[in-house]
Amino acid sequence: MTEFLLPLMGRMHPVLVHLPIGILIFGILLCFFPQKAKNALLPSIRLAFLIGGIAALLAGGSGFLQYQWEGFAWEDVQLHLVGGVVTAVGSFWVYVLVKNVEILSVKIRVLALALGLILGITGHWGGNLTHGEGYFTEVLPADLQSLFGIAAQPELGPQLTEETWENAQLYAEVIQPILNKNCKSCHNPRNRKGDLDLSSLAALRKGGEDGQVFTAGDAAHSALFARLLLPKDDEKHMPPAEKNQPSKEEIALLERWIQSGAKESGTLAAAGISKNQVERFIIKNEIPFYPTSALAPIAADSLAGLKQAGLFAEAVEAGSGLLKVSCINLPSFQDSDWKLLESVKSRIAYLDLSETQVTDAVVGQLSALPNLTVLKLNSTGIAGNSLNNF
Ligand code: HEC
Repeated sequence: MTEFLLPLMGRMHPVLVHLPIGILIFGILLCFFPQKAKNALLPSIRLAFLIGGIAALLAGGSGFLQYQWEGFAWEDVQLHLVGGVVTAVGSFWVYVLVKNVEILSVKIRVLALALGLILGITGHWGGNLTHGEGYFTEVLPADLQSLFGIAAQPELGPQLTEETWENAQLYAEVIQPILNKNCKSCHNPRNRKGDLDLSSLAALRKGGEDGQVFTAGDAAHSALFARLLLPKDDEKHMPPAEKNQPSKEEIALLERWIQSGAKESGTLAAAGISKNQVERFIIKNEIPFYPTSALAPIAADSLAGLKQAGLFAEAVEAGSGLLKVSCINLPSFQDSDWKLLESVKSRIAYLDLSETQVTDAVVGQLSALPNLTVLKLNSTGIAGNSLNNF
């Protein structure tokens, strides 16, 4: 009959913890009131640390019961528990010290302050256990979050590859990432708008305050999908109109998943999804066109000589140390002008010598350009005789 008592006391922990917090903070504040020769606040201070210590013990006991009955993992609670014990012991210690003095020493005040610090940290650890680590920070605006370096990883949505997209799991690799990107901020275990958590399949199956949010095989009657199609000014439209909206591809994939049975496992191919439906989620491995180079971007005035001579020269792309050099405006360029290029030899990645006077003699020089990627030689004096020994 009484077996409910212990778990009930365990559940009282989040209530009971506020007693020592309130009482001890009160005691610590009193320690910093200006004191006369005979400190009139001493009896109150003693009482605060005595009752604060007892309250901390009570809170600790109920916390231990909660840990026992609610299935918390030891690794998660250990710091909080140790902090609680230190707080209780610390309160009694300060109480004993204060009991025997007429006036508060600096040492006692410092101890009281340290106790306050431990109390705060212990409370914070406890808060993390019940509310999760990002409880305070997740409500901050994004730029403040990044200022503290705690910006949550942005949800990227599905990330498929060219080679494996067909074998990707429809639910795990496409649907859940779509929900994470568009819905999870309001529908997660801690923030359950409409009493709905969309962060896992088990939670999805539980539904929200209006019950099931999807019926396998019947997308049209599944709130999870149908609400996305409602006109934006409909108050049931999801996500709320002022928020980022899922793309039409994402909505179509959600529909496909529900239509194909809302299964936990199954590949994109098995659900009959074609490549163009997921094209935008396929990560392209872009191979950089120009060699990646450690050369720092060249200063504009270092190019002044080339430009004066009539050559066109600029970085191949913004921020690159490699150069695009063209003789387009210098048809008189000839073999002896090659020396103009000497100073930037290692940087030339694109060289256009079209319509110039150069002959086979420069071909031999080309191997001295380690980063040369594009070479244009239309209508020059090159006969090709030297190509054999190139
Ligand atoms: C900015 C917050 C926010 C975002 C983002 C959001 N929702 Fe909601 N959602 C709500 C609120 C608030 C409710 C409760 C009011 C209501 O039912 O319209 C709700 C309710 C729902 C319900 C009804 C639950 C029930 O049983 O009553 C569904 C289904 C739903 N949302 C689906 C989605 C889907 C799918 C996404 C992502 C594509 C999404 N929501 C994104 C705020 C949000």
